[in-house]
Amino acid sequence: MGTISKNLDHDIEEVLFTEEQILKRVGEIGARISEDYAGRELVLVGILRGALTFLADLSRAITVPHSFDMVGASSYGSSTSSSGRVQITKDVEVTLRDKDVVIIEDIYDSGRTLAAIRDLLRVHHPSTISMATLLHKKVKNRAAELDIKYIGFELDDRFVVGYGLDFDEYYRNLKYIGVLSPRVYKDGGAVL
Ligand code: IMP
Ligand code: MG
Repeated sequence: MGTISKNLDHDIEEVLFTEEQILKRVGEIGARISEDYAGRELVLVGILRGALTFLADLSRAITVPHSFDMVGASSYGSSTSSSGRVQITKDVEVTLRDKDVVIIEDIYDSGRTLAAIRDLLRVHHPSTISMATLLHKKVKNRAAELDIKYIGFELDDRFVVGYGLDFDEYYRNLKYIGVLSPRVYKDGGAVL
């Protein structure tokens, strides 16, 4: 495996979305959710750990009363392509019964994580479940095609990090979203 630079910016090949662009878009989504859920019992359910940053900013961009919680899921390990299996590692603790749930995800890739979490949350009998993702990857042959109500940005099928998104748990603290240099995860041409 390549090495992670002390200055994380050096490992970024291209910045796709700046901090300013992200916060503007999150503000717009927050305003839409505030309109759509006025007078409802809104609960945001973020998927750990990638959606933490998005959830924190989105919650503060929403003006109507709401609560939030997190669920745990992991599908990637330390590779840059989906393992195909989704493990649920933590359930919600706030009550979802008769509430209007919006699942908050960092990135919609194969769709397996969102589909698995949506199925898990149905067991708690919310009145409605919808989904929000900051990033929507344009991939061919998606495992689960889902109707996602709120989408931040579309992007090509490239491996990105920052604003919560990681490679091997690093880069989540970057304020922008960028394409990770393949040098970091390739060793002699082999993708780990
Ligand atoms: P899916 O289940 O294939 O849709 O994958 C969703 C999860 O994979 C996300 O929650 C991310 O944690 C991870 N993921 C997918 N694409 C990327 C990426 O480009 N960078 C970082 N993580 C990613
Ligand atoms: Mg991840």
